[in-house]
Amino acid sequence: MKQFKTFKMARYSKQWGTEDAIPMHSSNPEPFDWQELETLTQLNLKRIVSTSPLSYESTQGNSTLRTQLLSQLYPTLVVNNITLTSGAQEGIFLVVNSLLQTGDEVITFTPCFEPLVSVAQEAGAKVNTIALNQNDNWSIPWDTFEAAITENTKLLIINFPHNPTGCCIDQTEFERLVSLCDKHGIWLFSDEVFKGLEHKNQPSLPTAVEHYEKGISMGVMSKSMALPGIRLGWLATRNKALLERWLEIKSHLSICQSSLDVNLTTALLPFTDQIFKRNIEIIENNKQYLERLLHNHTDFKFSLSEGAATTFIKLTDQKAEEFCFELLNKKRIFVMPSPAFMTEMDGFRLTLGKKDAKKHYQNIFDKS
Ligand SMILES: Cc1ncc(COP(=O)(O)O)c(C=O)c1O
Repeated sequence: MKQFKTFKMARYSKQWGTEDAIPMHSSNPEPFDWQELETLTQLNLKRIVSTSPLSYESTQGNSTLRTQLLSQLYPTLVVNNITLTSGAQEGIFLVVNSLLQTGDEVITFTPCFEPLVSVAQEAGAKVNTIALNQNDNWSIPWDTFEAAITENTKLLIINFPHNPTGCCIDQTEFERLVSLCDKHGIWLFSDEVFKGLEHKNQPSLPTAVEHYEKGISMGVMSKSMALPGIRLGWLATRNKALLERWLEIKSHLSICQSSLDVNLTTALLPFTDQIFKRNIEIIENNKQYLERLLHNHTDFKFSLSEGAATTFIKLTDQKAEEFCFELLNKKRIFVMPSPAFMTEMDGFRLTLGKKDAKKHYQNIFDKS
């Protein structure tokens, strides 16, 4: 029987009983409710839902929606370069299982979103993780990275803006990664689910799929769009055979998207800029507050994130699980301990995306 690992993230939630706790770990900005979304977009969303067909969609996904994604995100591609997925989690599964087999090697950076490592390991690949360091502002250690490339390296997985640290890379660094991939014939899988959540003054990176022939880009409605209740993501590649393999695997999984999700996404994508603006305002506000709160704090080492909706807080005198479990038991607040991000550093992921975060920040960092 094929073995699937339990993600640590899911294990903490289940074993620690976090259902009734205040979620201060989330990687998505505060999810919209219907009213806020209708006010922001002036759309009658309930009408869109109630007039949606209740039939199957095609496996590759609605072509009107794919055309819209192309015009907003990948103008140099064609509509057949995209498939829709049920969330980004399905996208990760498709990419990894279509490209990797036993003996292949993958490189990625840690801390990271756990499935980016575990799903590749489950597919039989050896994953070489390159540790990013808070003291170096989470920058890529180029010598270590280049030394990790072998003749078996098949895939590099990146995720900028980054979960959990919120770090970004600039275009020069991105191009350096692309040219190393090109030199060694490596596929580049860019998890772009936080694209658009670059904070003030941080430019958005080019998409991997437009920039590199073996580049794969992934997006989703749950993260920068703050709509995790819409389980809709997408993958883009310029390689026809690869896309066909995704469709074969997808027909073993979700088969197709919910038509309700497709219609909502089609209606909401034109409002991307307004949605990003609302999300970034929440994030910047929380970030400034946290910066003041943790200035000169000796127990917690805080690094300002530059993108996404989370930051990584390093603990200077306590183990991650012990701190997070204690916080949960004493104050019913849940932050995600660092082992969930494939790192040995002690710390936790803290959300910057929650609207009423400030009072909870005070509670988290008051150790009395
Ligand atoms: C970097 C990253 N990629 C992919 C996903 C999966 O997204 P979804 O839960 O919408 O499928 C997440 C979710 O937290 C994530 O943080």
